Amino acid sequence: MKRIGVLTSGGDSPGMNAAIRAVVRKAIYHEVEVYGIFYGYQGLITGDFHKMELGSVGDIIHRGGTKLYTARCEEFKTPEGQKKGIKQLEKFGIEGLVVIGGDGSYRGAQKLTEHGFPTIGVPGTIDNDIPGTDFTIGFDTALNTVIEAIDKIRDTATSHERTYVIEVMGREAGDLALWSGLADGAETIVIPEAGDDMNQIVSRLKRGQERGKKHSIIIVAEGAGSGFEFGRRLQEETNMETRVTVLGHIQRGGSPTGSDRVLASRLGAYAVDLLLQGEAGVTVGIQRNELVFHDINEILTEPHSVDLNMYKLSQELSI
Ligand code: F6P
Repeated sequence: MKRIGVLTSGGDSPGMNAAIRAVVRKAIYHEVEVYGIFYGYQGLITGDFHKMELGSVGDIIHRGGTKLYTARCEEFKTPEGQKKGIKQLEKFGIEGLVVIGGDGSYRGAQKLTEHGFPTIGVPGTIDNDIPGTDFTIGFDTALNTVIEAIDKIRDTATSHERTYVIEVMGREAGDLALWSGLADGAETIVIPEAGDDMNQIVSRLKRGQERGKKHSIIIVAEGAGSGFEFGRRLQEETNMETRVTVLGHIQRGGSPTGSDRVLASRLGAYAVDLLLQGEAGVTVGIQRNELVFHDINEILTEPHSVDLNMYKLSQELSI
């Protein structure tokens, strides 16, 4: 392989830039040319390709967002869109592609591989919802952003003796809610994977009230339902003064943590090594601190699982 491409797709996540840098530098290290494709699959279709040099990725390792821009592209879901993308890759003489993104991006990578174009997926999403890796790039930074926000809200919850419901992102996955809830000693964590029952949550809070507890922090994963709806029902059923905060896109930005920068650097470089060794249609990940790769078809059919032991622990520690 003499020339490869790299793109970021779907929601941005902190550490994507560090991953792009690793792909570009590792390829150049192996004397392989690299093209950055702007705006994800949209740019693949339109031919928005840019030759990357060592300096193109200088001074980005510490920046959030993605230097290659990103987009969600409906056209690439169609066979026509996919063929247009492959034509552009051929026109530029590109022989392999690294796709950095979440499961939607992986579906595009899977299609390219089915069309015979060697593609490797690198997990970049704050949601931590990709099977085959213990952590996705961006999760640790988002987790720390959430923790910082909850710490601040806790000060107000204590001062005003209120109940706070905080809705966090994660799409269908509860990881961000569970980890931040455990890290912040939240009284209750509501995640889609646990199938929480509202009556149980209310009786838990009432038990706390009876014990003299005057404030509570409740973390609701967006996949488990609306924080506002949850807050309304809680106030109705417990009569506790309740406020709701939806953290929103603050969770997606910011300078990546050390862990995310290191993870991104390792995974980006590993993807290039695998591509040059002739691997295709795989996704890279980290499991028990070892670099691993898996067939993309398996990853896309395997359901995401959250660590329910951690969920149990969070309940045991917040009695
Ligand atoms: O996948 C990342 C994520 O931030 C999810 O947590 C959230 O559900 C979604 O993207 C929001 O998407 P958008 O930025 O398109 O509103």
